[in-house]
Amino acid sequence: MHRLTSSIFKTAWFLSLMASVCAHSIPAAKAAYPIPQNFSQAVVAADHVLASQAGLEVMKKGGNAFDAAVATSLVLAVVRNQSTGIGGGGFMVLRTAEGQEKVFDYREVAPQAASRDMFLDKSGQPVPNLSTVGYLAAGVPGLLAGLDTLHKRYGTRPLAELMQPAIDIAEQGFAADAHFVNGSNMLAARGVRDDLKALYFNQGQPYKLGEIVRNPALAATLRLIAREGVKSFYSGEIAAKIAAAMQANGGLISRNDLASYKPREHSPLRGSYRGYEILTMPPPSSGGVALLTMLNILEPYALGWNATGHNSSAYMHLVTESMKHAFADRAEYLGDPEFVKVPVAQLTSKAYAHALQPQIQQAMVQTLARERYGLNGLSAVSAPKISYTPDDHGTTHYSIIDKAGNVVTATETVNTLFGSQVVIPGTGIVMNNQMDDFSKSPGVPNAFGLIGNEANSIAPGKKPLSSMTPTIVLKNKQPVLALGASGGPRIITGTLQTLLNVVDFGMDVEAAVSAPRFHHQWMPEMLFIEKDMPFDVRSALMAKGHQLAMGEAENVVQAVMNRDGQLTGASDPRKGGKPAGY
Ligand code: GLY
Repeated sequence: MHRLTSSIFKTAWFLSLMASVCAHSIPAAKAAYPIPQNFSQAVVAADHVLASQAGLEVMKKGGNAFDAAVATSLVLAVVRNQSTGIGGGGFMVLRTAEGQEKVFDYREVAPQAASRDMFLDKSGQPVPNLSTVGYLAAGVPGLLAGLDTLHKRYGTRPLAELMQPAIDIAEQGFAADAHFVNGSNMLAARGVRDDLKALYFNQGQPYKLGEIVRNPALAATLRLIAREGVKSFYSGEIAAKIAAAMQANGGLISRNDLASYKPREHSPLRGSYRGYEILTMPPPSSGGVALLTMLNILEPYALGWNATGHNSSAYMHLVTESMKHAFADRAEYLGDPEFVKVPVAQLTSKAYAHALQPQIQQAMVQTLARERYGLNGLSAVSAPKISYTPDDHGTTHYSIIDKAGNVVTATETVNTLFGSQVVIPGTGIVMNNQMDDFSKSPGVPNAFGLIGNEANSIAPGKKPLSSMTPTIVLKNKQPVLALGASGGPRIITGTLQTLLNVVDFGMDVEAAVSAPRFHHQWMPEMLFIEKDMPFDVRSALMAKGHQLAMGEAENVVQAVMNRDGQLTGASDPRKGGKPAGY
């Protein structure tokens, strides 16, 4: 780690003083977003109203937030099967009312037959689509194992009862909404596997808005699990079907892979920001590490309405620079900690953020060459140039607080839209394509345009690097905010900006989630901004050396807040969800 110069200390001291003066004396935002409804007992924010309602009903009947999480997650597995499902996995951060903090990692693992170069051709080039579509793309699913562990540890209601809403909706159907319809149209335009088409298209055509989508095979699968337990998925009838389909179609997941799947349990990764405690997701997600790196970089600066203003060019430029450092380290150092040594303590330390301040200061004039970012930027190691593929609408997130003060926040996914598009015959299960989150070859981008190196190479039993960032924020040891997002790498920057909106700009949860966002992931060298950012802001950012791309935010945040006992929740309007509370 570089030594700090005394002038940097002075700058940091001055900025820190400014931060403490300004950040907490700022009036709450007066933005044109709906006022969030206040609840006194419990609130759920999911990206589909049926999922929020399912969680709410559980809590109204006396279940706790963890019971609600099971019901919410499984309803999402039905109504948002383009984003999540029992063929996928996820990460969860929770805090009990008694103050116990826990992380469940139920991310997919690479099957035992997986190998480092399995997606490369003889000349070492990635075979197009092999890691994204079809049987080889699937990792061993963890969703049900994760929910089962949560339920066994913290649940109070019978599992079968918590599964019933999902079973009913899969059986009776749900109305196709804009996200489902748009996703299906997107797939139709680029080509859909026949098995997915048979399951989720209407006589070969994408469903139209409001048409009823049913998955009775999934209802039967869920009913079997409700009756026999999650073991039927990992070692019983369903495991046999998955393994047989894999074997018949060149996939790798075996009965043994399924039987040996175990969720991992950790303590959350901890950090702090302006007196708030941050509990977030450790590796194999890069999300928590990157979030803390960015917050540590930003902490010495006065952000807020009367300082930088919100989404001014000065604010966006500074926050963008923090993103570039965090994503440079993501590409270089992050991977599954059971397989590689990840310098988590260093990357999340305040000292590291201080050591980066000379780069930040230089970049205030003009953004820097890509070699200058992250830990390697301190010694200028070169970086490759890559192209960008836009996000693909996979992944879901929900956040829940109950009346006792239990909090749970989870991000779950089949990776990109409808995962691998593989449907296991006779089950209604759509398999993930999480294998694409490994780096197939150093410097070769995945579906999100992210690059990685050996730290994230494929190995049997290893978990692919993720961006999922479920996060709980505490003030005076009490949870005040629980949040997270979907949107591939934009999960990290969406979560960051929502947190800054609350802490530095005093926004309510609805405004914090809805406000326009931006994203930089270091490579490609492109600043993505949501399309309604003003022209003068864009011009000023370009003058700082940023190449801009305008479009949709492509990240979707779900957050719940506790302000002095008033509970509020926001489901990002970008995906059409709705919170529910009482
Ligand atoms: N599959 C997206 C992520 O885990 O970040």
